[in-house]
Amino acid sequence: MGISLQWLGHGGWRIQTGPHQILLDPFVTGNPSATMRAEDLEADYILVSHGHEDHIADVPEIARRTQATVIAIFEIAQWLSQKHRIERTVGMNLGGAVQVPFGRVQMTPAWHSSVLPDGTPGGSPAGFVLTIADRRLYFACDTAVFSDMQRIGQPRLDVAVLPIGDLFTMGPEDSLEAIQLLQPTFVLPAHYNTWPPIQQDAAAWGARVRQVTAAKPVILAPGETFEL
Ligand code: NI
Ligand code: MN
Repeated sequence: MGISLQWLGHGGWRIQTGPHQILLDPFVTGNPSATMRAEDLEADYILVSHGHEDHIADVPEIARRTQATVIAIFEIAQWLSQKHRIERTVGMNLGGAVQVPFGRVQMTPAWHSSVLPDGTPGGSPAGFVLTIADRRLYFACDTAVFSDMQRIGQPRLDVAVLPIGDLFTMGPEDSLEAIQLLQPTFVLPAHYNTWPPIQQDAAAWGARVRQVTAAKPVILAPGETFEL
């Protein structure tokens, strides 16, 4: 079964596998790099890494319209169901996993902060490991590099998606260390070039990845898709 990863720009992804459509941190409204509108996005599952506006802003509208199930940390799942009347939510926590029709979703730690747009505490920020058939994909989401990434890389990762924007997350240099810890086959950069403060030279980053790691860098433009 094929897996396609479409970058929505910033930290947002559309993952398609078989009949399933999964959105991760979709953020297109108010995102100057986005190529799509929220009303064009369909989903049966939506994964939310943390409560910051640039990750959750479009989630209530998309979830309500598509009836997608939202998977997030407990506090965010509760906020979506109580404040936005989202009917289908799965609240989980770090280290936990849930089996869903397309595979397994495990929530990993992330070093970041998390507050919801109305000021409600968002619990702990998170990343995700998706196991789809025999493939493992890691979405670090908004985080600093941390040495436990070595664990996340075991037994093997097909794909790692890492932020490289710096300022709010790890930057290009630290991402090289993350790649060395994770040892993925493919690495895709995210959370950069949305606004001037997180501007990065992705081609230069790709050259460094090839130089100092064994991973293959895959650099997408917003709207482009990588087929795994
Ligand atoms: Ni954030
Ligand atoms: Mn962010």
